[in-house]
Amino acid sequence: MRFLVSAGPTREHIDPVRFLSNRSTGRMGFAVAAAAAAAGHTVTLVTGPVALETPPGGIRRVDVISARDMLAALQEHLPETDVLVMTAAVADWRPRHTAGAKLKKAAMNPVIELEPNPDILATLAQAKAGRTFVGFAAETGDPLPEARRKLIAKGLDLIVANDVSRSDSGFAVDTNRVTLIGADGTFAPLPLLTKHEVACEIVKWCETRRGTQT
Ligand code: CTP
Repeated sequence: MRFLVSAGPTREHIDPVRFLSNRSTGRMGFAVAAAAAAAGHTVTLVTGPVALETPPGGIRRVDVISARDMLAALQEHLPETDVLVMTAAVADWRPRHTAGAKLKKAAMNPVIELEPNPDILATLAQAKAGRTFVGFAAETGDPLPEARRKLIAKGLDLIVANDVSRSDSGFAVDTNRVTLIGADGTFAPLPLLTKHEVACEIVKWCETRRGTQT
């Protein structure tokens, strides 16, 4: 199968040296890419700025900065995709104005005006056809109600719900405690696993769903 995986944060620049972003390190997305490649699948990995080496297995890597760059890269690669896994922590907002040169402190407005970024999954869902779409719901507190809402609102086949307020789960740690919730009725609370193990579970779910191993 052909996997398209997004990973990492996006950066929304205020000027060439300042940006809005989030705590994502890309580890979960890179683990999904690695697990899919190790299982013999073709993998394209579209990643925001992260400090990670591309995993082995012939993964095609596309580096992007902003949410709009990520959307454009994913749109370009979607036609040759069977399974999309959106682990990226996409910035929901960007500054309305990006300065071309570093802003001087004295010239800066203490209020930054924002405008919304596109919802990448919802945009790609318009061209979903027979593809399998997997999303993540990173929440602080019980992630299940929001995960179920996003599963439907974003037209997903599977959502991976995780509570990022726990110290052993979510951003910048090697483990994750997630629940897989599928549009097909899948409800699988997984124990505390490494991100590699979580990634293998996601890849296995996609293989079963599509009825093929490669
Ligand atoms: N996502 C996306 N485009 C965005 C924001 C999020 O495609 N602009 C994707 C993420 O990659 C993830 C899923 O949508 O797979 C859920 O992301 P999340 O940040 O939890 O949801 P939001 O839609 O941003 O909702 P909220 O901020 O209300 O929690």
